[in-house]
Amino acid sequence: MTFQHIPVMVEEILAIFADVPPGVVVDATLGGAGHAAALLASNPDLAVVGIDQDDEALTAARHQLEPYGERATAVKARFDTLGTKLDELGHAEISGFLFDLGVSSHQIDTGQRGFSYRTDGPLDMRMDQGSGRTAADVVNQASERDLVDILRSYGDEKHAVRIARSIIAQRPVETTAQLADIVRDATPARDKRRGDPSKRTFQALRIEVNNELDILQGALDAALERLCVGGRGAVLAYHSGEDRIVKQVFRDLVDVDDHRSPVPLNNAEFALLWNGSKKPSTGEADENRRAGSARLRAIERIAVAS
Ligand SMILES: C[S@@+](CC[C@H](N)C(=O)[O-])C[C@H]1O[C@@H](n2cnc3c(N)ncnc32)[C@H](O)[C@@H]1O
Repeated sequence: MTFQHIPVMVEEILAIFADVPPGVVVDATLGGAGHAAALLASNPDLAVVGIDQDDEALTAARHQLEPYGERATAVKARFDTLGTKLDELGHAEISGFLFDLGVSSHQIDTGQRGFSYRTDGPLDMRMDQGSGRTAADVVNQASERDLVDILRSYGDEKHAVRIARSIIAQRPVETTAQLADIVRDATPARDKRRGDPSKRTFQALRIEVNNELDILQGALDAALERLCVGGRGAVLAYHSGEDRIVKQVFRDLVDVDDHRSPVPLNNAEFALLWNGSKKPSTGEADENRRAGSARLRAIERIAVAS
């Protein structure tokens, strides 16, 4: 199966990195290297260190990045080890970083990976297929309370209790089709009108299986710490929980006038490129369904701490 993924908000991402100092940009979520290849093509002064924990993504990315030779390095890792990986490669400072969070279309569309409620497959959902708990492990081992927490926190699921009880009553649950049917049956008819109700459960389990929210702040901190003056960081988030973390991490660095704080928080080290988040154009959102929920935030290091 060829790797299919359309990179999101490419023009906006290229504009962010157009004038950063020459050096290395870390693409912490390399995927099929759509963004990374566009960056290398648009700015000859940049090299890219790309990180992904998914072997299929790395194979596709290495192929895509071949024309850029030594300007591109693809590393298998979870992005919270970004600091160690950069140390190993000898990059104490970076000119930029990009996080394009969540899953690729390739992962969703490959039924055998177990991410999709639309295609039957084993209930896996691990981005790194070589380690960690699968979605089946979570679904078949978690207590009712833990399942409810996962569905509420990561899926905003208002029928979390009904769904968790139904799952527990029908264990073992081994396939995506089985899980999707359980969720649909547990959802009241009035709440099935707007799209497939199993979407929220699948999103919640994916976030839990891959620790997506727990490791984000540490990874952002490690990347921010290494940014050179004039270096920029960009994050594309597709879920309100991830975007909230990004917003908070950036805000804590730049907040000049937080009335709740007794001391000024601004150390004049970082500045936001714009307030709030940017959305894709309506044209892009119409053409690429996945882009619709994207929220882009960006930050620049403007000085080193004194
Ligand atoms: C939205 S896709 C990135 C697509 C990429 N920007 C492109 O243009 O092709 C997200 C990628 O990040 C990877 N990923 C997500 N969380 C990760 C993590 N914690 N560590 C390493 N890779 C991660 C996924 O495996 C997936 O390949």
